[in-house]
Amino acid sequence: MSPGSLFDPLADAYDQARPSYPDQLFVDLEMLAGRPVAGARVVDVGAGTGIATRAMLARGAQVLPVEPGPVMLDHLRRHNPGLPVVRGDGEALPLRSAAVDLVSYAQAWHWMRVPVAAAEAARVLRPGGSLAVWWNDVDADEFHWYQRQQDRLEAMSPGYTRDYRNRPFAEELRWTGLFTEVVTVTCRWFREIDVDLYETWLRSKSFVAAIGDRLDDFLAAERRSLLRSFPDGRVIEPFRTMLVVARVP
Ligand SMILES: C[S@@+](CC[C@H](N)C(=O)[O-])C[C@H]1O[C@@H](n2cnc3c(N)ncnc32)[C@H](O)[C@@H]1O
Repeated sequence: MSPGSLFDPLADAYDQARPSYPDQLFVDLEMLAGRPVAGARVVDVGAGTGIATRAMLARGAQVLPVEPGPVMLDHLRRHNPGLPVVRGDGEALPLRSAAVDLVSYAQAWHWMRVPVAAAEAARVLRPGGSLAVWWNDVDADEFHWYQRQQDRLEAMSPGYTRDYRNRPFAEELRWTGLFTEVVTVTCRWFREIDVDLYETWLRSKSFVAAIGDRLDDFLAAERRSLLRSFPDGRVIEPFRTMLVVARVP
């Protein structure tokens, strides 16, 4: 199964429970890209159900979502009827060269082969434009409930390791030689959600789905563990959002 279609069975859960992105991310993005999001021509690659697409539309950008998964794309279309969308792959963008101000990958860049996707982004960016890649990472290492969850995932999800996204993303972009500046910033925030929505969020993760036959056992253990830490059923979940912006000459 290609990564594009990997998310399609998860699209409902994804749509209901994935967090959006904090305002500070867009403040940082504007500073590093050297231009406002408002009015920017953006191609949002790996757009999924459109969480980042909508955040940028709300800030006045002109956004073209690109997404390989047809079910994810259907959700996006339902949220944003009439918005032109493209079923496509970040490694072969169906766009002319020097066409956009910003190429964004929200929670999606780790699926890409960096040299190929970076070259495509650099090709479609106008001079001085930016590739922006970002992730919401749970920032709860010091909490018992999160450590136990990660222990369970490493035991039950084939190939999963808690540091799977600890890659030198900025260095990888610098090594391509395509960008004049590559800068990383992080910001911290949290959300409070009830335990049922938290379970839906777990279900939306590809490495949780990969647990397969033992998924119900995993989710039951999670619920018991969460209710010990959050007896009122309201889970407080801290995030660290990491943004890497790479500008072309
Ligand atoms: C975790 S989701 C992120 C969705 C959305 N950007 C968001 O902020 O919620 C990752 C998305 O990347 C997409 N993806 C995977 N491989 C891709 C590729 N080669 N080109 C473009 N998108 C890809 C998946 O289909 C999925 O929708």
